[in-house]
Amino acid sequence: MAAGVSSRMNTQIAKVLHEVCGRPMLAYVLDACREVGIKKIYVVVGFSSEQVKECFSDADDIVWVEQDKQLGTAHAVLCCREHLKDFRGETLVLCGDGPLIRTQTLKSLIESHEAGQSAATLATAILDDPSGYGRIVRDRYNNIQGIVEDADCTKEQAAIREINPSYYLFDNKVLFEALEKVKPDNVKEEYYLTDAVSGIITTGHKVTAVTAVRPEEAMGVNSRAQLSQASKIMQQRIQQQLMESGVTIVDPDNTWIDARAKIGRDTVIEPFTYIHGNVTIGQNCRIGPFAYLRNGTVLKNDVVLGVYTEVKNSTLADGVRARHHSYIGDAVVGQNVNIGAGSITANFNGRKVSQTKIGDNCYIGSGAILIAPLELKDGLHVNAGTVVSQESVNELGGKADNDVSQ
Ligand code: UD1
Ligand code: CA
Repeated sequence: MAAGVSSRMNTQIAKVLHEVCGRPMLAYVLDACREVGIKKIYVVVGFSSEQVKECFSDADDIVWVEQDKQLGTAHAVLCCREHLKDFRGETLVLCGDGPLIRTQTLKSLIESHEAGQSAATLATAILDDPSGYGRIVRDRYNNIQGIVEDADCTKEQAAIREINPSYYLFDNKVLFEALEKVKPDNVKEEYYLTDAVSGIITTGHKVTAVTAVRPEEAMGVNSRAQLSQASKIMQQRIQQQLMESGVTIVDPDNTWIDARAKIGRDTVIEPFTYIHGNVTIGQNCRIGPFAYLRNGTVLKNDVVLGVYTEVKNSTLADGVRARHHSYIGDAVVGQNVNIGAGSITANFNGRKVSQTKIGDNCYIGSGAILIAPLELKDGLHVNAGTVVSQESVNELGGKADNDVSQ
């Protein structure tokens, strides 16, 4: 379900496209489905649907379903009726605004569902502060009786700490029969999917609720504040995984690493480093403090990037060093190149972006400006403070200052 308007976010952008650690929220939910082997995903879109479809246009396992009016979560699922009405099997239903979902939780949900032979199974969480979420109401035998939405809770129900993170697995036939019967008689006058769950229970089918969701994973992002909280939790997960794979992160609280980044073993990330986009870093590199790595950066092994070094859309071969105040954009830098303090690639002339190629073992002195498009041959020595264009290099027979390198 990804059609909602999200008034609480106060946004023109579809809520599920808001990013958590560099990726749209919906991407995490889709990946979790794929990781448990789901081959076809129906994504219900409505508000800003074109944006959402565009963003995931590469995916060939998605069937887009339009929900013209956002009448509630039951209505959203019902919009898939044409596709799913004759399907006999199980349907997993998830919210696009729950990026913290873990594959392991989905696995336990599926296992419990199969073991219990239930018509519906949902995974629940217990929160210290359950406000905002649907509450799980159980009878004295601990069987689930239904889900009551926050706005519809009595005082007693509001105190229930077990909540619905919206992870459901249904017998498809039972689901669609129940959806047909849902009525919008609640405070918000919406068709609630949670009422379909209650309906399934009332008609005598077996419904199981397993407390299988960690509190930090249960969050649905409804506001900008929750978006930042979800990002924080995701950031911790990303860093945890990197550290387990042998990366040193000196100060996790003051480091930000994109979910798409890949970092090799024994690389050290110093504080205040910001890694955004598709970035690949090899082994034994030392990055930061205060480094900024952007989309398309590939660092091979033993690369050293220091204070205020920004790299974008560039490949730096083994042993490249840029220790202080550099900008390297749209460049291919050969092995063991030293880039002196304050040197930059001037990659944009106001009209177009061009490439800089720096051969192996070049020495770029401090404060050099390399005007792209530019190609420097192996072993070239560029003096400090030089402005280098292809023309000036050619004039010197491709050997600008080469003699000073010793
Ligand atoms: C929903 C659940 C609530 C649960 C919470 C978990 C219902 C009625 N309530 O509440 O029990 O605790 O999620 O995060 O299901 N959407 C549509 N079409 C619609 C309405 C919503 O596609 O017509 C999508 C939204 O884009 C969103 C998801 O469904 O991705 C959930 O909707 P939202 O309005 O955020 O529901 P909550 O109030 O959070
Ligand atoms: Ca929500």
